[in-house]
Amino acid sequence: MDGSGYSVTPLAAGDTVWFSPGVVHRAVNHGGLRLRVVMSHAGLPEAGDAVMTFPDAVLADPALYASAAALPGPDASPHERLAAAHRRRDLAVEGYADLAPGGVLDPEALARLHRRAAALVRPRVDRWQSTWRSAHDAAEAATEAQARGARGRQAGLPRLRAHRPTVHRPRLRHVRAPHHPHPRRRVMTATLRAAIIGTGAIAHAHAEAIAALDGADLVAVTDRDPEAARRFADARGGAVYDDLVALLADARPDVVHICTPPGVHAEQAIAAMEAGAHVVCEKPAALSLAQLDAMMEASQRTGKRLSVVFQQRTGTAAAHVKGLLDSGALGRPLVAVCQTLWFRDQAYFDVPWRGSWATEGGGPTLGHAIHQIDLLAYLLGDWESVRADLWRVGRETGTEDSSTATVAFANGAIASVVTSAVSPREVSAIRLDTEKATVTLEHLYGHGHAHWRITPAPGVQESEAAQWALPAVEEPSGHVPLLRGVYAALAEGGEPAS
Ligand SMILES: NC(=O)c1ccc[n+]([C@@H]2O[C@H](COP(=O)([O-])OP(=O)(O)OC[C@H]3O[C@@H](n4cnc5c(N)ncnc54)[C@H](O)[C@@H]3O)[C@@H](O)[C@H]2O)c1
Repeated sequence: MDGSGYSVTPLAAGDTVWFSPGVVHRAVNHGGLRLRVVMSHAGLPEAGDAVMTFPDAVLADPALYASAAALPGPDASPHERLAAAHRRRDLAVEGYADLAPGGVLDPEALARLHRRAAALVRPRVDRWQSTWRSAHDAAEAATEAQARGARGRQAGLPRLRAHRPTVHRPRLRHVRAPHHPHPRRRVMTATLRAAIIGTGAIAHAHAEAIAALDGADLVAVTDRDPEAARRFADARGGAVYDDLVALLADARPDVVHICTPPGVHAEQAIAAMEAGAHVVCEKPAALSLAQLDAMMEASQRTGKRLSVVFQQRTGTAAAHVKGLLDSGALGRPLVAVCQTLWFRDQAYFDVPWRGSWATEGGGPTLGHAIHQIDLLAYLLGDWESVRADLWRVGRETGTEDSSTATVAFANGAIASVVTSAVSPREVSAIRLDTEKATVTLEHLYGHGHAHWRITPAPGVQESEAAQWALPAVEEPSGHVPLLRGVYAALAEGGEPAS
């Protein structure tokens, strides 16, 4: 199209073409192609039939078209990416309505279309892309093999069975990069080799997320209890090592996931970074600010990234609410309540590493409430002052079992933060009162859209409140979106989100 590596394929109206969305975006953004396409991916389970087109009014106006076709830049925040995806989806649906006879679609058909168009932007699109890639690569390989066979037969050569030498699995694998400027070439994209230390409860969430990601492979595990490590490896994969030193020396992982109790996070994270691995460390990162400083110094010194798991700030609902707050759509935030009211019996505190400042670094405020407090800070921004008290009201433990705090934020909002490990009806909750609305979140260990509610203040017009609705695309909070972001940032050489 523009001499920069695209192939020129003359098309007639009604032709059926196979293409990747990336090719279309490049053609639109760099090749000046005006786009009105109805895509049909019959047979690809994740895609269904998808529609991508722009309304007549947009097609007719170059400036409107340029902004509609623009993709979010590499520095765009998750919220900006989601907002851009929604904008494109809504335009696509509007554009399809233009194509419909008389420009009118009945509401049910429109809703169906919305869902289909959402297939293009929903979070599982990565899985869809990889399905598409393998289908496409297989078709390409078959075409090449056919062509080779035809050439061989033409030259009268015998057909030989290829000899494949045994090779070690390469650290890099070929994938088709969706936004590479030369769609017909292949580029090398790293699959990061992951290792897990500490194969207890939370390690399973890490292994599940690693398995769900395209760019990650679990290659090694270790635990101070060798039997626990072996059972874990049997279920989740990875070679078993006696200890972290042996694992780092032999498996040479790109990323080490630290899923051990907090008392050993700092030394293990520093050892991993010094051995050349990035670190994903479970919360709480460390026992003290001094330990955290030492971890951050090791990261600076080695050039390896340190990321701490705060998965409650992930998910499409949190991103949406943050977008509403940051854009000022809800007015100024005024008052907040943040509660982590959980129930842990005495046996919970009797586990040796729990309930002690020396091994846990704190009680439920650091161990449990850290998630809700992180989400509150994610939504409201920097804090300015904290007044807090620790209480021991119902359990025998060396730390607190409850705490109360007042936090003043830089934006002027104030929050009351209550934490307890003695509350029979458990809840994790955030309530934000802004000038225009009350936002509430009530859940326990993870949230989806159903857990959030936005109530307009008296006097707010229905039409305005309607614009705050949660997006049609939903992904709950969790380790998968968190680690997807971390691995994407590591692959691009950028800064992980947390
Ligand atoms: N993000 C979350 O939602 C979440 C949830 C639960 C736990 N966590 C955090 O994850 C970490 C682990 O918690 P868990 O519930 O999985 O604990 P766990 O007791 O179930 O598992 C810890 C594992 O680490 C192993 N281990 C202990 N010391 C070790 C050492 N020095 N070297 C190697 N292995 C060692 C233990 O044998 C055990 O298998 C804690 O920091 C905890 O706060 C986070």
